[in-house]
Amino acid sequence: MNKLKLVFATNNQNKLKEVQAMLTNFEIVSLADINCFEEIPETAKTLEGNAKIKANFITQKYGLNCFADDTGLEVKALNNEPGVYSARYAGKENNAENNMKKLLHELGENSNRTAQFRTSIALNVEGKQYIFEGICKGTILEEKKGDSGFGYDPIFLPAGYNKSFAEMDLNEKGEISHRGKAIHKLVTFLNEYTW
Ligand code: IMP
Repeated sequence: MNKLKLVFATNNQNKLKEVQAMLTNFEIVSLADINCFEEIPETAKTLEGNAKIKANFITQKYGLNCFADDTGLEVKALNNEPGVYSARYAGKENNAENNMKKLLHELGENSNRTAQFRTSIALNVEGKQYIFEGICKGTILEEKKGDSGFGYDPIFLPAGYNKSFAEMDLNEKGEISHRGKAIHKLVTFLNEYTW
């Protein structure tokens, strides 16, 4: 059976693998696969806004069906920061290590460690746009645990679990994660969509 081709507007191999594992009925290709090596500016102030910018860029420039996601970690005691700025939280020297260090520093010994990951997905298909959202609630650990995954995974403890995202394998994380939930909504939609 010919699989339907959809561009996932990302260069993040971890995210690509996670999503390909959840969307096996589709041929999910990355930006590199369509020879798009430009930096797509994420200038919106909301996750949904950035997801739309990325999906629209690809659809307008390449004329392809496409979806894009944007994720943020919202920490209650920090007024929902870093949120839309999660990737750039540590400023110029931003990387996963420095971003986590800054977050743990900002939170200090605050006993309110409530947080959530939120993913917005914008899907452009046949001239229409659809938005999907997924949330994973949890808390911020006092120190890193585990070494799988990426980003803030080692310091995020999903609610109801006693291990961090970085102590889970891809499938386990995908079942409960923000992106997993948003992707499930996308999959349900695509499976019911008449092409
Ligand atoms: P993006 O919008 O998916 O590129 O993510 C923005 C920021 O959130 C990046 O710094 C990522 O490292 C972080 N992030 C996104 N998804 C996850 C996740 O599943 N676990 C941990 N960090 C994530």
